[in-house]
This record gives sequence, C-alpha cells and structure tokens, in this order.
Amino acid sequence: MIENVLNDYSVMVKKALENYTAEDKLCPKLMEAMRYSLLAGGKCVRPALVLEFYRQFDENYEKALPLACAFEMIHAYSLIHDDMPIMDNDDVRRGKPACHIAFGEQTALLAGDALQTLAFETALSCDSLYHNPKNIIAAVSALAEAAGARGMAGGQMLDLENEGKSTNIEHLKLIHSLKTGAMIIGAAKAGCLLAGATPEETDAAEEYAKAVGLAYQIVDDILDVTADESELGKPIGSDMENGKQTYVTLLGIEKSKDMVKELSKSAKAAAGGFKYGQRLCELVDYLAQRGY
Ligand code: IPE
Ligand code: IPE
Ligand code: MG
Ligand code: MG
Ligand code: MG
Repeated sequence: MIENVLNDYSVMVKKALENYTAEDKLCPKLMEAMRYSLLAGGKCVRPALVLEFYRQFDENYEKALPLACAFEMIHAYSLIHDDMPIMDNDDVRRGKPACHIAFGEQTALLAGDALQTLAFETALSCDSLYHNPKNIIAAVSALAEAAGARGMAGGQMLDLENEGKSTNIEHLKLIHSLKTGAMIIGAAKAGCLLAGATPEETDAAEEYAKAVGLAYQIVDDILDVTADESELGKPIGSDMENGKQTYVTLLGIEKSKDMVKELSKSAKAAAGGFKYGQRLCELVDYLAQRGY
C-alpha cells in the first residue's frame, strides 16, 4: 500500500531532520524556530519523491536521505515566508500557530533563511563513498534551480504580483507550475540524478512530476475552498481574502477536479517506463485525491 511506503519515508525523513537540527548553543532561538516549522507534521511529499525516484535505480534509498531532507528544508522555509503578513498573512500552519506568530516576524524571516542554507549544507553531505561526486553536483543543482528565481521563488513573485488582478488560465498554470510544481519536479529529477539515471529517464521523471506538481496546487486551490480548517491545518479562504485568482475562481470546482484527473492520467503515462511504475501510479492517485 502506498500509504505504508509513504509512512516509512516520512518516519525516516523526520528522524533525520531531527538530527540535522539538533540543539544549537550559539543561537538556540533561531534553531528552535527552524525545528518548530520543519518538524510540525508536514506530509513530506517532496522528500518522498526524492526517495521514490532514487529507489527506481537503487534499492538502498537511505543513501538519498540527505538530499530528501534538503527538499523538505527548502519547502519548510517557503511555507514560513509564505505565511508572513507581507505575503499570504496566514496565522495557522499544520494546525499550529505559524512560525511568525509563535516566534515573531524577525525570527521567522531568519529561520526561513537559515533553513534554506541548511538545505544546501545537508544536500552536499551526500556521501561521496556512495555516490559519484558528479551525481551529487547534478542533484544539488536541480535543488537550487527548483528553489530559485526560475522555480519556487519566481513563482511566489508572480503569485504576489497577480493579487487583485484578473488573469487567464495560461498565466495561472505558469504560476502554479513554478511556485509549487518546481520543487516537486526538482525532487523527482534530483532523485534520478543522484542515482545516475540517464537523461531519458530523468526526462520521464520530469514529465511525471510536471503533471503531479500542477495537479497538487490545483488540489490545494480546491481545498482552500472546500476543506475543513481543522482537518487541513491551515486557514481556508486565504486565497479569496488575498484576492488571488485560482483554478477554482477561473474554472469552478468541478472543472478543476477534471483537470486534476487529466493531469493524473498524464503522470501515470510517464510512470510506465520505471521499474516500480506501479508505485508511482499509486502515488499519483494518493496525491491527487487527498482531502476529497
Ligand atoms: C503546501 O504544501 C503548499 C503547497 C505548495 C500546496 P503541502 O501541502 O505539501 O504542505 P505540508 O508540507 O504537507 O504541510
Ligand atoms: C504556496 O502556495 C506555495 C509555496 C511555494 C509555499 P499557497 O500559498 O497556496 O500554499 P498554502 O495554501 O499557503 O499552503
Ligand atoms: Mg502563497
Ligand atoms: Mg499561502
Ligand atoms: Mg493554498
């Protein structure tokens, strides 16, 4: 069952994340804020993609653990900043007060920054006894690209610029593919690259993750309208409050769900050539059907 596989990954990742953020005597408050957000009970989707794609080529997937944790660190930083008053202004994350509510804005800003650099420190600690250093460099480059101006940060910028404006589905697709898609694509690609996959195999992973990443944000848009706040662990109605156009505002809920179905089909088609393609297909359904 895919739930069991994901649970194994999540347990392993959370234990490693604990170790990477063990107490810091120099500046305990900053590390406490980093740990608070990093270990707050996320679904660990991006690390799961790193591990799952690495595992398509090497059964000893714990060898990709530092890389998987690095993706979760960047993700946690992106959420800390995303919730701040200057961005989405949301007070609750994963069922708890957002980082800036619990620790103040200055600390939240720095916790995000420090998680970002810790991510690279951690990814680069992938053991060169296990991996060809060229593969480590390729995987870390994929992480950098996914997080930066041509990826998540760029998407967040476009998302903010678009607040209060009318937009079309093409532009919204670009925003979603960057702000959320890029880290999901990066995770799948980085797992392949660390394992030394061929360019064709890495391209297939990218195709799979492009569809999954877009679908994932469309589902997030739907849940912002339909979910129960206590179950979702973050405020609902945040998009509307911020004047954001979403798949729901442009297409309505039913058509958005149809889009998710279409994208799931594309992702599954791209999974076909992988050794454990069946597991990748189950993962698509799990991610696409979360919450409804
Ligand atoms: C939330 O990501 C923000 C989006 C990009 C949709 P997740 O839904 O993966 O959040 P956590 O990490 O499980 O809390
Ligand atoms: C955020 O998208 C994507 C990120 C890069 C953090 P949202 O702003 O919709 O994510 P939530 O709904 O706050 O988790
Ligand atoms: Mg946002
Ligand atoms: Mg948000
Ligand atoms: Mg959202």
